[in-house]
This record gives sequence, C-alpha cells and structure tokens, in this order.
Amino acid sequence: MFERGRNKMIPVCEPTLTGKEKEYVGQCFDTNWISSAGEFIKKFEDGFSEYCGVRHGVACSNGSTALHLAVESLGIGKGDEVIMPDFTIISCAKSILQSGAKPVFIDVESDTWNIDPKKIREKINSNTKAIMVVHLFGHPCEMDEIMQIASEHNLKIIEDCAEAHGAEYKGKKVGSFGDVACFSFYSNKIITTGEGGMVITNSDEIAERLRLLRNLAFTEPRFVHHDFGYNYRLTNVQAAMGVAQLENIDNFVKARINNAKSYNEFFKNSDLVRTPICREGSKTVYWMYSVLLNQHDRDDVMNKLNEKGIQTRTLFYPMHMQPLLKEKGLVDENERFPVSEDLWKRGFYLPSSSSLTMEQIKFISETLLGVLNGNTN
Ligand SMILES: Cc1ncc(COP(=O)(O)O)c(C=O)c1O
Repeated sequence: MFERGRNKMIPVCEPTLTGKEKEYVGQCFDTNWISSAGEFIKKFEDGFSEYCGVRHGVACSNGSTALHLAVESLGIGKGDEVIMPDFTIISCAKSILQSGAKPVFIDVESDTWNIDPKKIREKINSNTKAIMVVHLFGHPCEMDEIMQIASEHNLKIIEDCAEAHGAEYKGKKVGSFGDVACFSFYSNKIITTGEGGMVITNSDEIAERLRLLRNLAFTEPRFVHHDFGYNYRLTNVQAAMGVAQLENIDNFVKARINNAKSYNEFFKNSDLVRTPICREGSKTVYWMYSVLLNQHDRDDVMNKLNEKGIQTRTLFYPMHMQPLLKEKGLVDENERFPVSEDLWKRGFYLPSSSSLTMEQIKFISETLLGVLNGNTN
C-alpha cells in the first residue's frame, strides 16, 4: 500500500512476485534440485524463447554474461570490431572487450535514443564483424535499416533486449531479428529471476556453442578440455521464478505501457518535460519511464524529488566519456556524440514498477510538475 504520509520512498522499480513464484521455488527445495540441473531450466528456456518466436534459449547467470556468451558464440575475437551505441550500459562494451575485440561507438537517435542507423556505415571497415543493437528503455531499434546494413556488409547482429521484453518492431518481437539476442532478468526487468539472463538464437550450431561456453566447456570425456568456457549457469531456483514470471509477462508488459500512458497524460501540457516517444510501427514497452528536462538542472530536480519520497535514476553515462575506455585508447577525442551527451545531462527516469498505482503516478507527476513550476510545498 502506498504510504505517502509516512515518508515511504517510492522506488524506481520493485518486482511483482504475486504469481506462482513461491510455489515453484518451493518445489526446487522439496526435490533438492537447487543448482543448474532441474526441470525449470529447460521450461524457462523453452517458454521464453517461444514467447520471443525463437527456437533456442540458453539461460545464464545475468544479462552481462549473456552478452559475453553471445559475442564469443559468434567467434568474434582479437582484431575484430563490433559497432555498438555510445549510450548504453558498460556491459555491452565489456562483453566485446572480454572477447578480445574492439567496441566502436556510434551516437544515438534523438527521438528513440537507440543506435542511429544513419551513422553506422561510416564506421564499417574490413575488421567489422558485428553490430550490437540495444533496444533501450523498451523502444525497439530501427531494425529494417540495421538488417539491411548487416546484409550488405555480411555482419552479424547481436541484440541486447535486456530492457525490452515483449517489445515489437513491425509486429515482430525484439530478439527475433539478430543472430543472437540477450536478455537480463535482474530484479528491475519486466520479468525477473532476481539475477539471471538468457541468450536466444535460431541457429542449432550457435545454441550448442552457447551451452558449451556457459558450462566451462565440458565435453566428453568429462574434464578433458579442448576449449575454455565459463561458469555462467542459472540455477533451477532462479529458473523456477522465471517460469512463474513468464506466466504473467503479458500483464507486466501491459502495466508498463499503462504507466507510460498515465504519466504522458499528466505531462502533456507541460513544455518543461520531454516524454518518451513510440515510433510508428513499434510497440515500445516503456521498461523505465524516462524524461528529459527542457530547462531545469537535472540533479537539482532529482534531489528535490528524493526529498519528497520519489526515487529516480540518471540515464546512462556515454561510453565515449568513460574514463576507463578513454585510458584504454578506445575513444577518439575529436569525435562528438551530441545526442548521448545531451541525454546524460538532461535525462532521468521515474518510478516504473509494474505494480505502480494510479495514485502513485498522480503523486509523482504532480510533484515533478510542482518542482519544475517552482511550487515545492
Ligand atoms: C541494456 C542492458 N544490457 C545489459 C544489462 C546487464 O544485465 P545484468 O544486470 O543482468 O548483468 C543491462 C542491465 O541492467 C541493461 O540495461
């Protein structure tokens, strides 16, 4: 229950565990299947990949390890380059670097905040092996143009769908476009397993390679190795939660979309806030409801909301500004990324849980408008 008067913080996100999570997790304890063997793993892999319209699902420990598995499963390594957006989480760059390849950053579109297809071609050279696209905040990337570029230059596509469970581009689910697609099931994601991830693919060969790499590259005879792998396994207990969450995914997606509709309604007459868009032909799932401030200082507004019991988060810090990536010589100091810098300076997201109530959304929206209009009592 919303406890505004008692100063309870509204978190940016909390999971909704009101389905069969406890029952299925209990079954793992009852049967002793608590590690990475057990019936829920395959159920979750099959159920989620089918939901996305893709043949294979390979569950793993989180979204970051999913990205690493995805890059390695495509045979990308030393000397190779992978094009990726400048505005995203560090896991994307790290997965490419971990595989020995070089990430090449591209600025994003000012309306969807996704990788700008118009800027991809100029970065392609003979070392380019793949494009990693990230469907940010639940909005699908411009896949027609990206797939066209990939086919012209014989490049692989890695989709990062961590923030876009259930989003669609021209009627097709994200995750079903790429050679491989990655998901995170961290507790703020649309469905969660606490920590968890999955790579999905239509290729039998890639799926087999993903399974091998996920499990220390064990083959027969066991303990004789021809390859190094990783322990990136998901547990049956986590997968049990995943199966229960999947039973409610349509409701969670609807709730996120309804949150956005309600927020949009409150902000529609204000020119102080820029609200997220949904491009025609896309189904965006508004993983986190993110806004840009047109005039005010972002940190000041976030602090004021915090004082009123509303938690917020900044958007991503662009890759080309990351001290570590600069130190590693991965950033061309002369190159400009005006859109991602602007998003970082002006943007933040508001509470976005699937369980958010209309009363909470009204309170959050009115408080934000009050702060922006100088009525902060
Ligand atoms: C776009 C994106 N990719 C990857 C990840 C990494 O997922 P995880 O936190 O499960 O490692 C996240 C995490 O929030 C994300 O937002």
